[in-house]
Amino acid sequence: MNIFVTCNNLNRIMIVGLPKEIKNNENRVALTPGGVTELVKNGHTVYVQTSAGSGSGFSDEEYTAAGATVLPTIEEVYAIAEMIVKVKEPIESEYKLIKENQLVFTYFHFASHEPLTKAMIESKAVCLAYETVEKKDRSLPLLVPMSEVAGRMAVQKGANYLEKPLGGRGVLLGGVAGVAPAKVLILGGGIVGTEAAKMAAGLGADVTIMDISLPRLRYLSDILPANVKTVMSNSYNISQAIKSSNLIIGSVLIPGAKAPHLITRNMLKEMQPGTVLVDVAVDQGGCIETCKPTTHENPTFVIDGVVHYCVANMPGAVPYTSTLALTNATLPYVIKLANKGWVDACQNDEELRKGLNVINGHIVYKPVAEAFGMGYTPVENYL
Ligand SMILES: NC(=O)c1ccc[n+]([C@@H]2O[C@H](COP(=O)([O-])OP(=O)(O)OC[C@H]3O[C@@H](n4cnc5c(N)ncnc54)[C@H](O)[C@@H]3O)[C@@H](O)[C@H]2O)c1
Repeated sequence: MNIFVTCNNLNRIMIVGLPKEIKNNENRVALTPGGVTELVKNGHTVYVQTSAGSGSGFSDEEYTAAGATVLPTIEEVYAIAEMIVKVKEPIESEYKLIKENQLVFTYFHFASHEPLTKAMIESKAVCLAYETVEKKDRSLPLLVPMSEVAGRMAVQKGANYLEKPLGGRGVLLGGVAGVAPAKVLILGGGIVGTEAAKMAAGLGADVTIMDISLPRLRYLSDILPANVKTVMSNSYNISQAIKSSNLIIGSVLIPGAKAPHLITRNMLKEMQPGTVLVDVAVDQGGCIETCKPTTHENPTFVIDGVVHYCVANMPGAVPYTSTLALTNATLPYVIKLANKGWVDACQNDEELRKGLNVINGHIVYKPVAEAFGMGYTPVENYL
């Protein structure tokens, strides 16, 4: 048993550190002042790096008023904390700050980043990844909030780029009296697709949502308004629908696999000039063949007269909403980890246990070990 666990079990007090995110253009923060209040109420001590919340609209004064101590440097936060709460994976300059036995709770996405995996093995820290915390029904509660944000944003962005000066066809999503609304096609009726459909329908568009799951289409047909049609996803239906769609949103996911290319390069010729494609699934390779990741600084490009928007971190543009949405989901887990220590918390909570990826120099999450052909140790060995 490591020292961190022993201390925590004796005292039930955790020193929690909140560093400022330093990844390019990342303005979210892992705890709001409200989250700090909850931790302090539970008897924990919270250290916040100065200006950690500024990108999301939270000042140092708000954190201090909530009961945190503000520290001037990231080094001090990492040095003092037993548990680090973050948003993005640690970047290279943070690797050396992470200590043996320190619990780091954040998005890691290890399987796509070998140097990070090796650095965390070397650090001997305990890495609990947001993205692999998993409920009994196999849903991923710490990924859902960002999908909700991206789905809603996809329509906002699409409506914007449909304007003529931005390269679009010059179509107003909801139309007006006497003029038909725009046609919106959504490929994939999961979290992103459903949120996109709600937004597009709310703006009065003529919406079609496609999925390969009939039960999912039945559910969507029950809950979505009458201006949303549900259609089975197959290559024939897609090739017909793209001809008249003004905005096409890609939101498919096959867990653990690259997204299938439902729209190929050849199919662009069948679309009307000024059609807008928003491929939200770009972080999994994209479901539109011609999509490649873009940034908020340079979000679009045009091929064959078709506007492509493929920003890989869409929620980053709305850090206030994204921070609140993310922390609403993460805070209960943060409190549990602080109150019980990670061993107790993970022993009694299967959802959290699935989040454990690396412990004291060993990979305990099989898909990560398999991704790099590295050794795997069952998580039970540590609980
Ligand atoms: N770009 C961003 O900033 C951003 C943000 C959040 C999520 N995402 C990505 O958006 C994608 C969708 O996420 P989600 O949370 O909605 O996933 P989800 O699992 O909730 O939904 C995916 C849906 O795709 C459907 N599907 C699978 N194959 C299909 C096919 N051939 N045709 C039609 N539908 C198909 C599935 O049945 C499922 O309903 C993921 O790749 C996710 O990583 C990107």
